[in-house]
Amino acid sequence: MFCDRTPDGLIVRTPAKLNLFLEVLGKRPDGYHDLATLMVAVSLFDTLEFKEDASQDITLTLASPDNLRLSVGPDNLVWRAADLLRRRTNHCGGATIRLHKRIPLAAGLAGGSSDAAGTLVGLNRLWRLGLADAELAELGAELGSDVAFFLHGNAAWCTGRGEIVTPLRPGRELWFVLVCPPVGLSTAAVFKALEPPALPHDGTPLREAVERGDVNAIGQRLFNRLQPVAERLCPEVAELSRDLSQVGAAGCLMSGSGSTLFLLCRNNAEAHEAAEVLTRTAREKVSRVHVVRSCF
Ligand code: C5P
Repeated sequence: MFCDRTPDGLIVRTPAKLNLFLEVLGKRPDGYHDLATLMVAVSLFDTLEFKEDASQDITLTLASPDNLRLSVGPDNLVWRAADLLRRRTNHCGGATIRLHKRIPLAAGLAGGSSDAAGTLVGLNRLWRLGLADAELAELGAELGSDVAFFLHGNAAWCTGRGEIVTPLRPGRELWFVLVCPPVGLSTAAVFKALEPPALPHDGTPLREAVERGDVNAIGQRLFNRLQPVAERLCPEVAELSRDLSQVGAAGCLMSGSGSTLFLLCRNNAEAHEAAEVLTRTAREKVSRVHVVRSCF
């Protein structure tokens, strides 16, 4: 996440994330699932602009290239993050927030969670609240399982619901092609259709490959327990996954609960070449293709 002052406020750029490993360890009494997942932030960003507002209201507006139908009221995680921060600190000032949305919705890229994290960081500064990172992370966990990740850094091993974050130091920059089918998937629906495994997969070899920066080893060890479930619920994901496995990249996986698939590439040139081929050959199966790199 990148945060800069503007003449009359702040601007925060909030990244998407990819899961390079995601195992479900079991269902919890609270209805959530315990996870072990390795997440990296990547260079596809939403932007949030914050300005103080004398009216004491929180006013959210949306700018998006696709005319997205996204609420700007209490259903939006940005609005909820601002409201939660204000209630917990008894702050009575307002803010106008403009969200430039580029990260696709219901895509497994955690755009909403990243926006929520950016809102906590941005308003903590704008309103001079002085909350520590750990306090912001606690608020973040109330808003969504992935929010804490974005407050802690750009690559991490995450457990619990996803909110217990151990930062990692990857051995090198990674290049990806994001491939978004025209249909999204609901995280809750994917988890509901999942049968947790009797014998969970161990993510240690993948984690070590990321720390070594060994792209081919990472590619061979990419794993997502939710992918077969998403492919059952959404045949478009299954079909696209078959197509992507033919491209010859270092690896291919679905991110989070889908529906985005990604190719792990050996370098920038390979990523651009793969994106060009996909844009040409799979146009009717794909709504967006983005070349991104890890933000370490
Ligand atoms: O935490 P978040 O709001 O992102 O989760 C959305 C939904 O995904 C939850 O309501 C739950 O159904 C499911 N989920 C889960 N276990 C997790 C994270 C999410 O079951 N660790």
